[in-house]
Amino acid sequence: MSKQASQEERVVPMRLQKFLARAGAASRRGSENLMTAGRVRVNGVVVTELGSKVDPTVDVVTVDGREVRLADEAVYIILNKPAGYVTTMSDPAGRPCVASLVPKDQYPGLFPVGRLDRDTTGILLFTTDGEAAQRLLHPSFEKDKHYVALVEGSLSRAAIDRLERGITLDDGPCAPAKVERIEASSPLVSAVCPRGIPKGCSLVGLTIHEGRKHQVKRMLSEVGHEVIALHRDTFGSLVLKDVKPGKWRQLTADERKRLLAQTKGE
Ligand code: URA
Repeated sequence: MSKQASQEERVVPMRLQKFLARAGAASRRGSENLMTAGRVRVNGVVVTELGSKVDPTVDVVTVDGREVRLADEAVYIILNKPAGYVTTMSDPAGRPCVASLVPKDQYPGLFPVGRLDRDTTGILLFTTDGEAAQRLLHPSFEKDKHYVALVEGSLSRAAIDRLERGITLDDGPCAPAKVERIEASSPLVSAVCPRGIPKGCSLVGLTIHEGRKHQVKRMLSEVGHEVIALHRDTFGSLVLKDVKPGKWRQLTADERKRLLAQTKGE
């Protein structure tokens, strides 16, 4: 069953249904049902036999194509946040919150790294890795985030220059932003305005590395353009792809490696 380890080297092989239950995929009985229904694969191979064993250190287990891991291994997830959800794991006011969109029961301790406003859509990273999250949230992380904003009117050259020089908001100066006008033919249009860019409006792309409250909206407002809709499509090295609005996926091994290397300043 194991991909690489020889019989002698194996670290405590575990019954597959026990592994699934421990990883939070389902109860022990529910895990057996998942297996007999042919929904569980180990290293890409469907396993229906209830006595089968796995080695959690090397075997890749999926349920319906989604990887399942033991909870003590840090998990990294990206959510394509829809509008209307507050970035919190619980809201005393009972508003819809992002917690309802991610597998928090499967991965206890999962929390969002930073926040997006309730009406902002796009990439939001979640992890159970407190140390990595602290490094990612530290001001010294300074990794670019790209936002696409739908604004009234269109930005003048002078407005773009001001943003690119670095404007000052009421809580202090902003670092210079990278700004670009986004054409109607860009694939980013549908993420922000699925019915196309409304008349009298335009899309602007902004890359910043800070994360102050309502920063993009305030920066654009400062140069005379109210934001109508805002979407984030990158976060450091992570790019929002292969995730529909309201859905999540685990980072690939490569994405995880690059993200963690960034937090260590590599
Ligand atoms: N800037 C904003 O104004 N809002 C967000 O949600 C994120 C960045």
